[in-house]
Amino acid sequence: MNSTALRACWHPVGYSAEIGDQPVGVMLLDTRVVLWRDAQGTLHAHHDRCVHRGTQLSIGRIENNAIVCPYHGWQFGVDGRCIRIPQLDDPQRVPSRAQIETFRCIERYGLAWVALQAPRWPLPELPEFESGAYRVVRTGPFAWASHASRQLENFTDFGHFAFVHEGLLGNPRQAVVAPHEVQIDGAVVRYAYRRPDEPNTEQLPVFTTDARKESDRNTRYAIHLPFTIVEHIDWGGRDGMVYFFVSQPVSEDRCIGYCLVARNYNLDQPDTVMQEFESVIFGQDQRIIESQQPRAVPTDGDDELHMVFDKVAMAYRKALRDNSLT
Ligand code: FES
Ligand code: CO
Repeated sequence: MNSTALRACWHPVGYSAEIGDQPVGVMLLDTRVVLWRDAQGTLHAHHDRCVHRGTQLSIGRIENNAIVCPYHGWQFGVDGRCIRIPQLDDPQRVPSRAQIETFRCIERYGLAWVALQAPRWPLPELPEFESGAYRVVRTGPFAWASHASRQLENFTDFGHFAFVHEGLLGNPRQAVVAPHEVQIDGAVVRYAYRRPDEPNTEQLPVFTTDARKESDRNTRYAIHLPFTIVEHIDWGGRDGMVYFFVSQPVSEDRCIGYCLVARNYNLDQPDTVMQEFESVIFGQDQRIIESQQPRAVPTDGDDELHMVFDKVAMAYRKALRDNSLT
């Protein structure tokens, strides 16, 4: 994929709650990024490479609102400028070239997001995740040896439920994928689907048991390019779920998926039930997706054999092409 174009998009780099008072090193599009919090708790992101001798700053520490390199103690402020070189007679006489690149960084929906260049699109709006009427569970993260585009596309794939997730999301005797329409709306691919629901399992009852529930689950999906998907589920009553899945493109053959699940029923159920359910589902998918060649989804159309029920994948790839992401 076009990594220059991908640099100009927001990508998740971790769950916010995991970033405390120590610097954290992450990898995004083959770029090492250091994340750290200043005294107010505001998150900052910089190139994770000291301008002096290339040391990783994320193995350093935070002191006086600055990140301190572990090798010779140079200090860098929130704007990436070096503010102190302890080896100089006057440690404050710092040359202007002594700075590290600063990246855009925000926290939203419980995730830290970084854009290596000015992002083309804003984050999707997810009122359910900020309303308080929903319980939001953070599942994963799911680190796979695959490209983020494969991890995202797998989330959209209806044909595999009956085979890969038998008894949890599908049934081999009902493998036929029902007709569905797909629309491309700029950088968003939308589609809806209705299918019979699998019964809850005893150990991991994550779906509604509301008596007013119809047997079918209705789902509305929106893929926000490049690697985010929002899925709204209902069963014809008031109970609803919203899945928010987004994949961090670590490199050409690595990604990390974050799957946040919001629901407005069973509000007392401990988060571990949903977390275990998703770790089973993602575990079933992982070995399949890591085996796919090529690593990233091919977008030239000739490399794979698509059927009419692969409509979503075809639309996703077209949208990536139309938006110059491939
Ligand atoms: Fe960072 Fe020397 S390598 S201060
Ligand atoms: Co799956």
